[in-house]
Amino acid sequence: MDTEAGRVNPLRDPRDRRLPQIAGPCGLVIFGVTGDLSRKKLIPAIYDLTNRGLLPPGFALIGFGRREWSKKDFEEFAKKCAKERSRTPFREDVWERLAEGLHFVTGTFDNDSGFDALAAQLAELEEAGVTGGNVAFYLSIPPDDFPVVCRQLERTGVADQSGESWRRVVIEKPFGHDLDSARDLNDVVGSVFPEESVFRIDHYLGKETVQNILALRFANQLFEPVWNAHYVDHVQITMAEDIGLGGRAGYYDGIGAARDVIQNHLIQLMALVAMEEPTSFSAHSLREEKIKVLESAALAEPLDKTTARGQYGAGWQGSEKVVGLHEEEGYDPESTTETYAAITLEVHNRRWGGVPFYLRTGKRLGRRVTEIAIVFSRAPHLPFDETMTEELGSNALVIRVQPDEGVTLRFGSKTPGTTMEVRDVSMDFDYGESFTVDSPEAYERLILDVLLGAPSLFPESREVELSWMLLDPVLDNWARKGMPESYPAGTWGPRSADEMLARDGRSWRRP
Ligand code: BG6
Repeated sequence: MDTEAGRVNPLRDPRDRRLPQIAGPCGLVIFGVTGDLSRKKLIPAIYDLTNRGLLPPGFALIGFGRREWSKKDFEEFAKKCAKERSRTPFREDVWERLAEGLHFVTGTFDNDSGFDALAAQLAELEEAGVTGGNVAFYLSIPPDDFPVVCRQLERTGVADQSGESWRRVVIEKPFGHDLDSARDLNDVVGSVFPEESVFRIDHYLGKETVQNILALRFANQLFEPVWNAHYVDHVQITMAEDIGLGGRAGYYDGIGAARDVIQNHLIQLMALVAMEEPTSFSAHSLREEKIKVLESAALAEPLDKTTARGQYGAGWQGSEKVVGLHEEEGYDPESTTETYAAITLEVHNRRWGGVPFYLRTGKRLGRRVTEIAIVFSRAPHLPFDETMTEELGSNALVIRVQPDEGVTLRFGSKTPGTTMEVRDVSMDFDYGESFTVDSPEAYERLILDVLLGAPSLFPESREVELSWMLLDPVLDNWARKGMPESYPAGTWGPRSADEMLARDGRSWRRP
């Protein structure tokens, strides 16, 4: 992954590429700083980066919000977030270091005074030699607010970069709710920030196991020769969650599983699995290959048979009785929002012709698991008695994204005994066992990359638009159909999802 800015920790040998780079002088402004994402992910990740020594001395974190908070109020709030959610142990001395650089600016998006105060604060920090004029603006706010915030950043001049210094903008998903709105958003942001300064977050790309897809494929000789339609029968990408949607109605109702997760995380995973080898790991080469494969991708048809959607009803999550979506607080009782979505993609190129990619995601499913299963074709001939191979399934390579990070290879083996019986066994690689260090949280990696100016792990506008192009026909089709099929909480989704694969003579894995 390339890093264009930032400097190497002088205490470490700069030639050792395994060591992380630390960011140069800069500041980060968070809009939506009191929101869920900021409390649970962003502030804890910034604390973890401070703890790991990866932020510059005096790093400035500026919260922007409507509350009439003093610096001390913001400090208390941020300290609580860091204490409750940081990955690394909480230490007062580390906290003190971060706390010195905290600032809070009170303002609302449609009122100039807050942004004028922000501009003054940023100028002060630059003059004091804290930020070197380098600032990233993190928009952890609803997309409807992007235009007004971007206009304010433009009006006050804080989006302008001058000389050597940089200004960047970080955008959280959802990037619109369909292709047209995504284009509009890209235009709005693009009118203020050049594309190379726009960092669109897809936090799945910050996960170690997701980056490992590239290492697995392109650092080894073993897998790539069978990574194609000659050997692969189909690919299953699953992101299952056991949690429900209580408390998230404001965001989720009307959005649904496909927009929330398939448009971004799952299509990105699919692109990493299906793309050709990039010429290098520069952002340009990686994005170019992802774009090529997304351009070759298409929905399998007819959509009524190749897609499925569902909505969870009441059921059991382990030993806990849970309510259905319609009983969750804040949901319209008539809501047709899907909490389960599955689609079938094809990739029209020589490598993948005829190989379906099944993508599924759901809330309140059997357990929390994200995995990519490359399921291989059966051996063309088995020189065994049929009864001896009854227990033999297809070979599969499973990339376990979470929670048991690793890779599993499933293949057939002779069972001990006098007969030649063959059944499935598996060989496992576990991150926890092979490496002694914990994986950083996705947001640690991504926030650091923003500050370093390393864009490889951030989808660019064309990728986002291509993902919507794939998804829009499905969403239009579902919008005409009314209520999704119900599935009991704690199960593996609606019957139509099983039927979708059964029609192709296949079945979903039960991870
Ligand atoms: C988010 C979705 O992008 O990812 C959530 O909006 C989902 O609905 C979350 O719960 C899951 O993230 P992770 O990292 O826990 O798999």
